[in-house]
Amino acid sequence: MRKPVIAIDGYSSTGKSSISKIIARQLGLVHMDTGALYRGITYFALTHCMNGDAAINLPKLFLHLNEINLEFRNVDGELELFLNGRNISKEIRSNAVSANVSLVACQKEVRDFLLGIQREIATKGGVILDGRDIGTVVLPDADYKFFLTASVEERTRRRFLELKSLAIDTDEDQVMQNLTLRDQIDSEREVAPLRKADDAILIDNTNLTKKETVDLILGYINVLT
Ligand code: DC
Repeated sequence: MRKPVIAIDGYSSTGKSSISKIIARQLGLVHMDTGALYRGITYFALTHCMNGDAAINLPKLFLHLNEINLEFRNVDGELELFLNGRNISKEIRSNAVSANVSLVACQKEVRDFLLGIQREIATKGGVILDGRDIGTVVLPDADYKFFLTASVEERTRRRFLELKSLAIDTDEDQVMQNLTLRDQIDSEREVAPLRKADDAILIDNTNLTKKETVDLILGYINVLT
């Protein structure tokens, strides 16, 4: 039997990636955190394509996109992101990457470049991709689509704890500002904006634990299968 293709979209820090990872493990699927790919390109830009005024030089980034090789590798049971052979899993969570990733993700050249990588992995089925435009653009024919949301206060609390656990120095005000601004840019951009697909199931997990969200999603998959 063909394994399903699942799309999980939603706002920043709604737990998309960690929830997708658990579901992937339980259903024996491959998981791709597509936000990490946009973060990987942003990290490349910050280290290779800067202007004198410390802003990203987008035309230079577009010229160098074909030098970028991003791959997920299994490190001690966790999928970690490698840029041209170097593990950048920690670097892509830095404040500098978070502050610039929405600008990079707005660019059509970048989105086109990453579209192929994302679709390729889904061709054989048995995948769960999480991001912002998976149900609307990357995999419009996915078997199951979910859209996650939660209050901005709860999302701030979650992101702050995540950054603290990674020993990344920040405070809650900064985290809330970054989240709100990113959601705004992601929702208002022209190319593939953050939007719930018409046929996606909406889940507000403000008052749900990670496990409760996972169980809810698995419940839908069981009912719909
Ligand atoms: O999920 P995340 O916070 O790591 O994503 C980082 C950024 O990447 C997010 O602000 C928007 C962008 N993104 C996107 O535009 N499309 C996706 N499919 C995934 C992420």
